[in-house]
Amino acid sequence: MNARPESSVGIDAAAFAGPRGCLDLADLAAARGIDPAKFLQGLGQRRMAIASPCEDTVSLAVAAADRALSAFDIDPGDIGTLIVGTETGVDHSKPVAVYVHELLGLSERCRTFETKHACYGAMAGLTASMDWIASGRARGRKALVIASDIARYGLGTPGEPTQGAGAVALVIDRRPRLLTIDPSRIGDFTRQVMDFWRPLYSKVAFADGHYSIRCYLDALTAARADAVGPGAELLDDLAACLYHVPFVKMAKKAHQRHLEIERGAPLDLERDADRHLLAEDHGRRVAPWLELNAEIGNIYTGSLFLALIDLLRQAADRFAGRSISLFSYGSGCGATFCLGEVAEAASDWSSALDPADDLARRRMLDITDYERFVRDGESADTAESLDPAAYGLGEGLFYVGTVDHQRRYVRG
Ligand code: HMG
Repeated sequence: MNARPESSVGIDAAAFAGPRGCLDLADLAAARGIDPAKFLQGLGQRRMAIASPCEDTVSLAVAAADRALSAFDIDPGDIGTLIVGTETGVDHSKPVAVYVHELLGLSERCRTFETKHACYGAMAGLTASMDWIASGRARGRKALVIASDIARYGLGTPGEPTQGAGAVALVIDRRPRLLTIDPSRIGDFTRQVMDFWRPLYSKVAFADGHYSIRCYLDALTAARADAVGPGAELLDDLAACLYHVPFVKMAKKAHQRHLEIERGAPLDLERDADRHLLAEDHGRRVAPWLELNAEIGNIYTGSLFLALIDLLRQAADRFAGRSISLFSYGSGCGATFCLGEVAEAASDWSSALDPADDLARRRMLDITDYERFVRDGESADTAESLDPAAYGLGEGLFYVGTVDHQRRYVRG
């Protein structure tokens, strides 16, 4: 029985869906003449999901949402707000969300929009949905927030091994079955910085990589301070700390910053005691929930929620009633730090949440296929006819080309 008060709001359902193809980072390293240890240990990544030209932000979003609604037995007619967070929109004007609205068969009595702020779009949608519910405007309905992105950097650039693709769908409701979020301890941060951006004319992102890491860490310090106050001690009460994960090692850097904030001094990783402290705390509160991120790569605005799915599939029973922290960072930049409590019966949903079977069925691409997907993707928006079978795709909803300037989707 869930003893949660009627006023509690948070994540009631969640699901991940990704593309069918993936690339092993050892293969990418070999093709680029780089020591594979740099990608595997240095960045912490094993594989990255690769979208074909027929798998776009819309098709991934619909697959994740279909899965969340059916696995958690939610009537699509109960959705009163639909928000798609993405930096990989398919139109300068028309939101991804309105395609998704039709393809999911949602009620017309629904407000629908897209949020864009690099990797921060879905967190913006989540907190806006909580406000919508708390204000009374929802009138018993639920919000569906979908994070859907395809991370693309140029071939041979430092960002290339930090690509990925996929969508996470979240249903936000009162008395949530997975995670309650405390509205009184949500902290925000915004600052105009040029750490990562993607101009209108470019399919691939530009990044000032090392600067972006500093921006991310400064945003963590500031958003955490806004949530709980600069000097607050939190870690002793937290079962886990989840961060935005552009690559797995980044979450370790973030956790180091979190420890430094708590003790009010930098860690000196040349000293055994400090190295030990970081290794132990990170190994307990952060690392176990980064398995999916290591397999899938950066899915931008869904990356934080992928780590949440990983935690809930593995440890929802152990963490029932315990607090966790969540930090979302979007380049440019915007950030939110907040605290959640794992629902008492969240473990009932652990297997419904687990994407392991889908991941095991993915097709391993070789470098030739990967580069063909990238090349074909460059002209996919103007191609009249695309054949999913040419990319090894069977059943599913796919983008099949643009006719009369209108995108076409077909369920195969
Ligand atoms: P780089 O400069 O080529 O790599 O690209 P590096 O030289 O910094 O090496 C990376 C790590 O590998 C280092 O570890 C090296 O020591 C280690 P660290 O010192 O950081 O702990 N290393 C090795 N380890 C073992 N064996 C070896 C070896 N060689 C090196 N042989 C960079 C790295 C992250 C800059 C690049 O991938 C990049 O530009 N990525 C894109 C930007 C990014 O991910 N930024 C993260 C923060 S911003 C963010 O999260 C927002 C974002 O998601 C976008 C959004 O909001 O939409 C990106």
